[in-house]
Amino acid sequence: MKRINIGIIGLGTVGTGVLRVLKENAVVIRERLGAELVVKRAADRDIVRDRGVKIEPGVLTTDALEVINDTDISIVIELVGGTTVAKDFILKALEAGKHVVTANKALLSTHGPEIFKKAVDKGLDVYFEASVGGGIPVIKTLREGLSANRIEAIYGIINGTSNYILSKMTHDGGKFEDVLRRAQEKGYAEADPAYDVEGIDAAHKLAILINLAYGTNVALADIYTEGITRISPLDIKFAKEFGYRIKLLAIAKSVDNSVEARVHPTMVPATHPLALVDGVYNAIHIRGNAVGPVMFSGLGAGMMPTASAVVSDVVDISRNIVKGISGRLSPFACAPDAVRPVKIKDMALLEIPYYLRFLALDKPGALSKISGVLGAHNISILSVIQKDRKIGGAVPLVIVTHHAVEAALACAIEEIEKLDIILDKVVRIRIEDNLGTVL
Ligand code: NDP
Ligand code: HSE
Repeated sequence: MKRINIGIIGLGTVGTGVLRVLKENAVVIRERLGAELVVKRAADRDIVRDRGVKIEPGVLTTDALEVINDTDISIVIELVGGTTVAKDFILKALEAGKHVVTANKALLSTHGPEIFKKAVDKGLDVYFEASVGGGIPVIKTLREGLSANRIEAIYGIINGTSNYILSKMTHDGGKFEDVLRRAQEKGYAEADPAYDVEGIDAAHKLAILINLAYGTNVALADIYTEGITRISPLDIKFAKEFGYRIKLLAIAKSVDNSVEARVHPTMVPATHPLALVDGVYNAIHIRGNAVGPVMFSGLGAGMMPTASAVVSDVVDISRNIVKGISGRLSPFACAPDAVRPVKIKDMALLEIPYYLRFLALDKPGALSKISGVLGAHNISILSVIQKDRKIGGAVPLVIVTHHAVEAALACAIEEIEKLDIILDKVVRIRIEDNLGTVL
């Protein structure tokens, strides 16, 4: 039976999971592939620590170059993370004629085109299923399953850590810091968890999805990015009263020859399947012009789900090796010379409904002052909630608007914050109530 040697760089959460999947599922993988996958070398800075997986003698090294330069190795798996040494390792591996598998969304969203071009030039494969959605096969879906479609929209819950935090805050009333610590202990969070809670990781993943869906190379700076750090239990409670759940959504929408590209906390109808995706689960709802809406859901982070995606990539590449082919699937998801710029829609022109929460003095005329400013900016009100009564004191006042233009809303908020009845910054959360159903 043919033997395909692989090398791994980085034996942290995901790297250890890869070793486990390859060991625990060796028989089924061998039967499906018709070849045997062998971990010939594996590098990490620490090769003394017990990772709970049996590793054959002579496999471990602290020098990644020993993996890259091993002439028996056909596939190098990069699981170090970050955009510096990881990039160097991948480019060197391609230079050395190895196919590459990576889970590194931070790297691909910034240096993807350079890496992909090198792979194409060398006639090698780069696979990156684990870079978006953990164990969910969404990259394969965009590169293959939906290749007959023009992609109209993508709505994704694609950061497991922030979904875990929001779910715990929604259902168990957990405190932000405590829940984040738990997510870190479970191996869900990035090395710098600010990437998770500030929406940066979701923006990296959205960039990858946009590039595959629209055959482009979007700049991260063009993706509007807002995280979940300012979401309070009060907003979660009011969202429920209005029939919504708050999710960190990554959105790409094709509109009028441009693409909306944004990541932000979003109120979604409580009845939509995306609202039901809780914990570290991810979900990606894609609308293709031929297929209509499809939705994929599964564990979006953690050792074994992520390793599932990485090893599936290794199997895919190995199938090519068995057949003596490579480069069947362009890493760009289109012919490299078909990659072209797309216009990203200016956020200021966005037109959607908004949730606004004010801390206002409870006195006659307060609401009319606020609604007067909104009206002056052509923003009409759908509903209002004021729960408490504290004559002369401060109370939360919540307004849901009809569709309003983002720039006009920003001007209105600036004016409202200057009113003498307003005691704090206005909280604004965008609403997506036209996602289309997939049930
Ligand atoms: P970890 O930090 O757990 O693992 C990275 C490992 O690489 C560490 O053991 C690290 O050692 C080692 N390393 C760092 N530099 C080198 C080097 N120069 N040579 C050899 N080894 C090195 O990260 P994860 O496993 O969580 O993530 C790996 C990648 O997968 C990242 O790109 C991440 O974004 C991505 N990913 C992670 C998911 C998850 O759920 N964790 C899900 C999807 C993608 P040290 O600890 O000493 O730095
Ligand atoms: N930190 C990431 C998350 C890992 O929480 O989604 C998976 O990409």
